[in-house]
Formats: sequence, C-alpha cells, structure tokens
Amino acid sequence: MFNVVVTGGNKGIGYEICRQLVGRSSTHVVLCSRDRPRGENAIEQIKKSEQFGSKSKISLLLLDLDDSKSIEDAAKTVESQFGLVDILVNNGARAVWGTDFNADIVRTTLNTNFFGLKLTSEKFLPLIRPGGRIVNLSSMVSQFSFRQMSESIRSKFLADDLTMDGLVSSLEEYCLRVEKGDWKEKGWPTNGYGISKVGVSMLTRIYARDNPDLLINCCCPGSVKTAMNRKGTKTVAEGAATPLHLAIGDLQGISGKFWSNLLVEDWF
Ligand SMILES: NC(=O)c1ccc[n+]([C@@H]2O[C@H](COP(=O)([O-])OP(=O)(O)OC[C@H]3O[C@@H](n4cnc5c(N)ncnc54)[C@H](OP(=O)(O)O)[C@@H]3O)[C@@H](O)[C@H]2O)c1
Repeated sequence: MFNVVVTGGNKGIGYEICRQLVGRSSTHVVLCSRDRPRGENAIEQIKKSEQFGSKSKISLLLLDLDDSKSIEDAAKTVESQFGLVDILVNNGARAVWGTDFNADIVRTTLNTNFFGLKLTSEKFLPLIRPGGRIVNLSSMVSQFSFRQMSESIRSKFLADDLTMDGLVSSLEEYCLRVEKGDWKEKGWPTNGYGISKVGVSMLTRIYARDNPDLLINCCCPGSVKTAMNRKGTKTVAEGAATPLHLAIGDLQGISGKFWSNLLVEDWF
C-alpha cells in the first residue's frame, strides 16, 4: 500500500486532495483532522463520492497542529498501524480573516502554520520511505511578505547554509518585534500569515537540502474559495492540482522548490 498522510484533510483543499487520491489504485489515504466528528464526516462524504471504489482505503488520524502530544501520538499511530509513509502533505493551517494584526495573532498563526508543520515533519520524516515526498502548502503571500522585508533580513533567509535553528530564531525575532511594536523599523512586514508561510517555504528548502533521498517541495494552490479565503476564485479541485502534482506527478527529481500553477516559481 502507498500511504499518504494529509493534515487538515477534513475540509477545503486538504479534503479535495484526499478525495482525489482515494481513487488511485493501491493508495491508502490517511486523512488527518484535529476534530473526530469533522474527520469522520469528511470520510463519510469521501466514501459516498464516485472516486471511492471497492479497493479504496481511507483512515482517520487525529492530529492537532497546536498540540505537540497529538502530533507525536499521530506519528506513533501511523508507525504502529500503517508502517512507512510514502507522502506527507502538510496542508493544515489557519489564517485570520481581515486586517487584524497583533502579537497574539502573529504567535498563534506561526504556532500552527510553521511550528506545528515543523514538528509534524520532524516526527514523520523517519517514517518516510526513501524516494518518498513531502508537500508543504505555502502561499504566494509568503513571496509578497518576503519582498517587503529589509535586505538584511532577506539575506539571512536566503543564506545557503541557513539552519533550522537560524530559521526559528528569525521567526522568533519577528514575534518579539511585533510584541515590542517596532517590527516596521526593524524591516519586517505587517503580515503574520505571510511570515508563517515564509517559514514554510524556507523550511522546505532546508529539509530538501538535508534529505536528498526525498522530494520535498512547497506550493501556492492559488486563490481558492474555502473557509480560509471566502473571496477565492479557484475551485478546490483547481487548488488541489499543484499539491497533487507535487505528491504524485513526475517532478523530474526537482526538490526544494516553490511551485505555483504546476510550475517552479524561482524566488528563493
Ligand atoms: N484557500 C486559499 O486561497 C489558499 C491560498 C494559499 C495557500 N493556502 C493554503 O492551503 C492550505 C489549505 O487551506 P484551505 O484554503 O483549504 O483552508 P481551510 O478550508 O480553512 O482548511 C484548513 C484545514 O486546516 C485545518 N486546521 C486548521 N488549524 C489546524 C490545527 N491547529 N490542527 C490541525 N488542523 C488544522 C482545518 O481544520 P478545522 O476544520 O478543524 O479548522 C482544515 O481542515 C493551507 O495551508 C493554506 O494556508 C490556501
């Protein structure tokens, strides 16, 4: 069985990724949800869809990106019940609707979108089969936020030898600057979601560099109409196309890149 784990699989783009993958032969979709009823309901819907055939296999895995124990338990459950993982899709994330901005929003957004994804990757990496893949849902907003940073902050992120500790310390610096109220003077943009996704994009680069036996990429799904983005213009099926390509498409060995509309977008 080809095991695919998708975080935040109970709705939106994550749900659509699960729904499309479940129709693939010999594929076991592990749909993660932080909430059991929402996860069970999603699986029930997928089982009713035309993609679900007599040989399809889908399982629910509880995984809350805001709870390190839940992430650790999820990885242990996968190891004991399903064995090795072929693909991890780090999809689950949060965003605050509107222009609200304060230290609390920045901290909670970074905790879920960056630190939760980082811990999930750390716990699942040892379970990923050689030749396996990680797909990280980043965003074009990370590119915009990156461009709004000072040259000196950008150069830290772009360093060839950027380490995970270095990345974490830059993101902690952003949280601190927002708390102190001097983030603008220090060269940071006013966008916690954007910075969380800069973290995801840079983490992708670091993990790809340090795990040459895997294909690890990130992408923007486009502006997709979901609970997170009520003004999105793409359908969830259109939004799932690039992450699905990174999961099961022919990538010609490309790793550590940011993709959009099925193509590499070179900005880091
Ligand atoms: N939609 C867009 O236009 C767009 C654009 C660029 C990038 N993206 C990225 O695409 C991905 C999917 O977004 P979407 O539009 O499909 O959003 P969505 O419909 O709001 O779905 C988000 C998913 O993440 C889950 N989630 C949120 N917080 C979580 C936590 N603490 N632990 C575990 N799961 C959690 C949600 O679960 P609950 O139902 O329990 O909340 C839900 O399953 C995200 O990474 C997003 O940043 C989206």
